[in-house]
Amino acid sequence: MSQNDSTSTLWGGRFSEATDAFVQRFTASVDFDKRLYNHDITGSIAHATMLERVGVLSHDEKESIIQGLTEIGRQIDEGQFQWSVALEDVHMNIESALTAKIGIAGKKLHTGRSRNDQVATDVRLYLRDEIDVIAKELTRLQQGIVDLAQREADTIMPGFTHLQTAQPVTFGHHLMAWYEMLSRDYSRLIDCRRRMNQCPLGAAALAGTTYPIDREQTAHHLGFSQPTRNSLDSVSDRDFAIEFCSFAAILLTHLSRASEELILWTSSQFNFINLPDRFCTGSSIMPQKKNPDVPELVRGKTGRVNGHLIALLTLMKSQPLAYNKDNQEDKEPLFDAVDTVRDCLRAFADMIPAIEPKREVMREAAKRGFATATDLADYLVRRGTPFRDAHEIVGKAVGYGVKTGKDLSEMSLPELQQFGGSIEEDVFKVLTLEGSVSARNHIGGTAPDQVRRAVSVAKLELADR
Ligand code: ARG
Repeated sequence: MSQNDSTSTLWGGRFSEATDAFVQRFTASVDFDKRLYNHDITGSIAHATMLERVGVLSHDEKESIIQGLTEIGRQIDEGQFQWSVALEDVHMNIESALTAKIGIAGKKLHTGRSRNDQVATDVRLYLRDEIDVIAKELTRLQQGIVDLAQREADTIMPGFTHLQTAQPVTFGHHLMAWYEMLSRDYSRLIDCRRRMNQCPLGAAALAGTTYPIDREQTAHHLGFSQPTRNSLDSVSDRDFAIEFCSFAAILLTHLSRASEELILWTSSQFNFINLPDRFCTGSSIMPQKKNPDVPELVRGKTGRVNGHLIALLTLMKSQPLAYNKDNQEDKEPLFDAVDTVRDCLRAFADMIPAIEPKREVMREAAKRGFATATDLADYLVRRGTPFRDAHEIVGKAVGYGVKTGKDLSEMSLPELQQFGGSIEEDVFKVLTLEGSVSARNHIGGTAPDQVRRAVSVAKLELADR
């Protein structure tokens, strides 16, 4: 590269030698940060508008900047823009194109601004828009879960601890557990949005600027709640991206748990649900196979999002104030976390309403595992047996059931009575699956009435978003 080339970069004045070609490629970010072009243009228009208001730009200069930027935006939309790695990043590509287009006024746009506050603003604007899309998609998923839970409020399935049959629960109740996890994710997302919604513009390189800028105005123009309060912090911290990735990692962790259950339930061993063919694929060698690829992939993608969270935490760790080039590395993990969350939510929101539960199979499974053993113990306690003794008596009855292949509800009264305690004919009311679930009729319990109650609370919650 000749000396002329080096002085043609935006900082050419200070340099007497061209950037090494590899270094140029190594330090460039345009290949991935061009994704920010719309937000970069929006931020620049707000900055130019403010510069005119405070008298730094003339009306005509401002107008031609806005017009030029708008045209550049259109060119990029249409794929007509020439990106140049020599111009390093999205900011300098657009600024150079602007100057080429409108001349001197273009060179004035960067007055009172630095790429440091510019990029901090762009990433926030980008993430804020993405958060709004993600919030809607998360709500659509939760809506689907609530509707399915309403349909399945009376459906009985085994509840598990240690993946061993524990007590009968309703399928609706199980689904509403997912809903609760996702509600907390939603509130984490909204919290993240609220905290990051401050405008860094005006922090300039690190210390602020000597021009008579109006930070309130740019913040307001861009829909931020206020300007950031410390210029060093503004250009430096990427905690908002970390926070988003932390939301994303927890969300994906939740989705991976639901995925795992869907995968188990579609197996021929469980056979609790059917997933329509459009969410599955076959095997190239085993003709009988129908694989639950969508939940498997969501489960797998949890790994990459967790990785992005660790990448950003590590990127930020020990960075001295204020801006460091390290921060250019925030974008790829953040972008990929956003894309992954959007795809996984879309897949799940489409898939949940399509689940076809096999109610009889679920019910039979609940019957097989002595799921009402606790109910029998509670029955004995109500009739005067101390809990520990009741536990022992029921343990023996279960042992007998294992040997004889009978569920508790299938034993005769004399069979049940041989293990001790006082047992009467009314015991069969608690030994039925329906009796067991409907007895757990309190806030947060598995009774069908409680599921319907939780569903109506959830519907109000969703309508309020
Ligand atoms: N591409 C850079 C980034 O993403 C923009 C800011 C560069 N600032 C600087 N002083 N080199 O962080």
